[in-house]
Amino acid sequence: MPLSSIIKKIPKAELHLHIEGSLTPELMWRLAQKHSVTLPYASVEEIEAAYNFTDLQSFLDIYYAGAGVLIDEDDFFSLMWDYLQRCHEENIVHAEIMFDPQTHTARGIGFDVFMPGFIKAMRKAQGDYGISSMLIMSFLRHLPESAALETLAAAEPYYSHITAVGLDSSELGHPPSKFERVFKKAKALGFKIVAHAGEEGPPSYIWEAIRLLNVDRIDHGVRCQEDEALMDYLKTSQIPLTVCPLSNLKLCVIDDMREHNILKLLEAGLLVTVNSDDPTYFGGFLNANYEALYNALGMDESTIKTLAINSFKASFLSDEQKAHYIAQIAEY
Ligand code: ADE
Ligand code: ZN
Repeated sequence: MPLSSIIKKIPKAELHLHIEGSLTPELMWRLAQKHSVTLPYASVEEIEAAYNFTDLQSFLDIYYAGAGVLIDEDDFFSLMWDYLQRCHEENIVHAEIMFDPQTHTARGIGFDVFMPGFIKAMRKAQGDYGISSMLIMSFLRHLPESAALETLAAAEPYYSHITAVGLDSSELGHPPSKFERVFKKAKALGFKIVAHAGEEGPPSYIWEAIRLLNVDRIDHGVRCQEDEALMDYLKTSQIPLTVCPLSNLKLCVIDDMREHNILKLLEAGLLVTVNSDDPTYFGGFLNANYEALYNALGMDESTIKTLAINSFKASFLSDEQKAHYIAQIAEY
C-alpha cells in the first residue's frame, strides 16, 4: 500500500486542534453574510491569500478577527461539525479539541451560546461516525490571570463537558508562571492540564509548565531540544508533546520542513505526536501534516505507525480504549 494511503487509512487521534483555527474561509464568508459582518476581504480567495504569517502574533491577529463571524449557537455547531466531518474523512477516530472562551465572551457571546453548539455536533459525530471527542478549555495568556479565573468560574455549568484546561495565545512575555493559581484551581477541580510552551518561547517555559502548572501534556514543545536536561526529563517522564509541523513552518518557527526536529525527538525517546493546530490557516489538516513530514523527512511505514500509536498513548482516553486502537494499528 502506498504510504499516503496508509496515512489516510490508519486510525489516528488528534490532540492539538483549536476549533476556531478550523474555520474554513467558506464558512467565514457564509457567516459574515448571514450576520452582516464586514470582513476586510472581498472574496473567499482573498481570505485565503491573506494567510501569510511572519510569526505567531501575525497569525493570532487574523485568527481572532476571523472568529468574529461566530455569533449564534448554530454557527458554533457548524464550526464543530465541519471539523468532525473532516475527522471522518481523515480517519481521525478521537479528537481532543481546544476552544478559546475568552475570544467569544469578550464579544458578549457566552458559554450558553457556544457550548450547546459544540456539544450537539460532538454528539452527532459520535452517533453518525463513532468519533469520540473531548473539549479542552484554553485560557488566553496575553490577558491577566484574573480573566482566566473568571473564565474558569463562568464555565461551571459545563464542567462535565470539559476534560482539560489549556494555555494558548501570545507566548513570549507571558510565561506559565503567570497562571500558577488558576491551573492549581483547575487541577483541584479534576481537570487534566495542557499548556502551549516552547513554540516560540524558551525551554524555561516548558520547565515552568511542568513544575508550576503540573501539565499532563505540552503543546508544541519543539524548543526542548535546546536543553539537554529537559530532553532527559521528557524522555523519563514520557510527558507527551503535541507537535504541529505545518504550523511551525507557517509561523516561521522553522524555515524549511526538512529542518523539523520531530523525528529527532522521537529517536531520542520522547512521546511525540503529530497534529494540525489551526488547519485552515496553516494549509492542511492532520493527514497533510503526516504527508509533509513524509515528503520532507522520508518517514517509513513503521514511523507512521509509531506516531499514530503515540497519538492514542498521549490521549486522555481510558487505558482500555487506548489498547483497543493501538491493537488496530498493530494489525496494519
Ligand atoms: N492559538 C491558536 N493557535 C495557537 C498557536 N499555535 N500558539 C498559540 N496560541 C494559539
Ligand atoms: Zn496551538
